[in-house]
Amino acid sequence: MAQEYAYITGGASGLGKAVAIQLASKGIKSFIADRNTAGAEATAQEIGGDYATVDVTLWESQVAGFKKAVELFGRVDYVFAIAGVGQNDWMPRTQANGDFEKPDLSVTEINFHGMLMTVSLAVQQFRRQVVNAHGFRGKVIVAGSVCGVYPSPGLSIYAASKHAVTGLVRSWGLELPAEEITLNCLIPSVMRTNISSPDFYDALESEGLLTPLHGAVDACEQLLGSNPVSGECFEIGPDYDNGQGTTHPNFATFTDEKHRLVFDRLAVRGASKLGAGKSIATADFKF
Ligand SMILES: NC(=O)c1ccc[n+]([C@@H]2O[C@H](COP(=O)([O-])OP(=O)(O)OC[C@H]3O[C@@H](n4cnc5c(N)ncnc54)[C@H](O)[C@@H]3O)[C@@H](O)[C@H]2O)c1
Repeated sequence: MAQEYAYITGGASGLGKAVAIQLASKGIKSFIADRNTAGAEATAQEIGGDYATVDVTLWESQVAGFKKAVELFGRVDYVFAIAGVGQNDWMPRTQANGDFEKPDLSVTEINFHGMLMTVSLAVQQFRRQVVNAHGFRGKVIVAGSVCGVYPSPGLSIYAASKHAVTGLVRSWGLELPAEEITLNCLIPSVMRTNISSPDFYDALESEGLLTPLHGAVDACEQLLGSNPVSGECFEIGPDYDNGQGTTHPNFATFTDEKHRLVFDRLAVRGASKLGAGKSIATADFKF
């Protein structure tokens, strides 16, 4: 089997780092892209890979990091868009002078717009590559969250950013297999990383509500190689190690047949807009 290569944003810490270590144990070489230079370098050293300082909110930064990986590896088989941040105080408080203030949208800029740019780079590169021994030009796995599925009071902007992620994956992920590309999403519950505080993790753990990090790493591993799944969200919860394993959320089904037909027509219209040779196999869609 030919050497395989991965590009991981957010690989300096937490989930991204754990994925990089697991890939290395499988013989897959990884390139770490993270705004935390020291952390990215440390992960790269640990896995025998390389790294670049990348801020996923900046296109030029993302292109520079990704090009470095492509120049080094020659091709990229897997792109993991994992960089992310948690909830912030995004909504301005009422101004004393009665004026309006712009909300702080940095969470959506990192978790969604940053992810979109990473995925765009991945797909542009995959389209230039021949299929590998598994029959794919490349695979993308992105970090969503259970907050991208369920209502999450207290985490409004984070939940909005992650709903955008699951929306993209569940839609574009159905189109990309026509180009021998897959796009899937991890939607873990709360795992012990550096995104939240040790106190919160300890409190959840004492109630049996903490999700093991290795569950999300296992889900990534399942998606490697010849697995044709695309457009799916892999949920990992606190009972992962108690026999539950990876699950899929109960997304809404169509309210009635007319709704289903409308979405079928929207898919046909979308395919026609893409032009000849880029048609979407609507018949294969499992809405
Ligand atoms: N830990 C959890 O409970 C949990 C649950 C569900 C989903 N997630 C998602 O998993 C992903 C990874 O988070 P984590 O829990 O490992 O957190 P983490 O804080 O340990 O790691 C996040 C990494 O992203 C990097 N990053 C943040 N902003 C960046 C930017 N602008 N440019 C480049 N890199 C940037 C950080 O430097 C860090 O290395 C996130 O998308 C998060 O939303 C985490």
